[in-house]
Amino acid sequence: MSPIAIVGAGLVGSGWAIVFARAGHPVRMYDKADGAAARALATIGDRLQDLQAAGLIDDPAEIHARITVAGTLQAALQDVVYVQESVLENVAVKTAVMSEIDAVIGPMTWVGSSSSGIAASLYTQHVACRARCLVAHPVNPPYLAPIVELVPAPWTAPETVQGVRALMEAVGQVPVEMTREAEGFILNRLQGVLLMEAWRLVEDGLASVEDVDRTVSHGLGLRWSFMGPFETIDLNAPGGVADYAARLGGLYRSIAASTTAHLTWTPELIAKVEAERRKVLPADKLGERSAWRDRRLMALARHKREMDAADTTPGKV
Ligand SMILES: NC(=O)c1ccc[n+]([C@@H]2O[C@H](COP(=O)([O-])OP(=O)(O)OC[C@H]3O[C@@H](n4cnc5c(N)ncnc54)[C@H](O)[C@@H]3O)[C@@H](O)[C@H]2O)c1
Repeated sequence: MSPIAIVGAGLVGSGWAIVFARAGHPVRMYDKADGAAARALATIGDRLQDLQAAGLIDDPAEIHARITVAGTLQAALQDVVYVQESVLENVAVKTAVMSEIDAVIGPMTWVGSSSSGIAASLYTQHVACRARCLVAHPVNPPYLAPIVELVPAPWTAPETVQGVRALMEAVGQVPVEMTREAEGFILNRLQGVLLMEAWRLVEDGLASVEDVDRTVSHGLGLRWSFMGPFETIDLNAPGGVADYAARLGGLYRSIAASTTAHLTWTPELIAKVEAERRKVLPADKLGERSAWRDRRLMALARHKREMDAADTTPGKV
């Protein structure tokens, strides 16, 4: 198993370290901030205990031992096949770190960036290794949510996409590919549409924040943990997706036409939603609730793993 480097050992970098180490790779973490990578290593130890308690891994100590802290970027990148860049979401910071990586990277090493929304073309144009760079955007935490969006810059070589895709599959992630850069990639473009309508329902006084959330957690979201929107509608009309479009296409076109003029994400609306959320969950309990979310995700991950292993139905995507 070839070593993997993580550059930037914050929330997401530490999550990636677990993904690669869990699959058997030696992982070297490098962070510019003093002591940050060592602190990440301690936090990773706690997360691995949680994963063992949830029945998702057998030997947390063995996985933890594969992860080491590198004192320099050069030491982190020595002989690695892949670098997962996970520094701050800022063009200047990512541009600078790409120059540093470019100065020490090996001739065959790929660089995937965890960038949530900044296209790789905005910070890799100047580097010699740019054909081996792309966005590899995870969902947090990546060791529980396996999706990773691969988004090539115009100069990313097709072999880079293929190679990173194969690596991600080998470590148990689920890669999806964009053919070219588009703001928000796939996941946040989909989430953006849903959020826009969620804000709008509250802005228009049509529903409460709680009821919008319940509609997803007790309705739409139940299916979404194992099938996407196209498969959902394919199974929601006797004749499949074309039948669904014939029956309900008019409704969706009419909704879309009636809502184009609204403005959402206004400061007043955000304040209203914030107030409703804080009534349900005080700000000092956000961390506790996030830990609860991760435990629920662990239970779901275990359930999905067992169901997937036994699944022989046609149409699996
Ligand atoms: N937080 C999320 O939910 C999430 C999800 C998906 C993707 N992302 C993306 O992942 C990336 C990292 O986000 P995060 O939430 O982990 O941020 P974070 O602030 O937790 O961690 C960033 C780390 O990068 C380090 N760093 C900054 N400059 C550096 C450099 N030149 N060399 C080495 N280390 C450096 C910082 O010291 C810090 O420890 C961002 O691009 C973000 O958009 C975040």
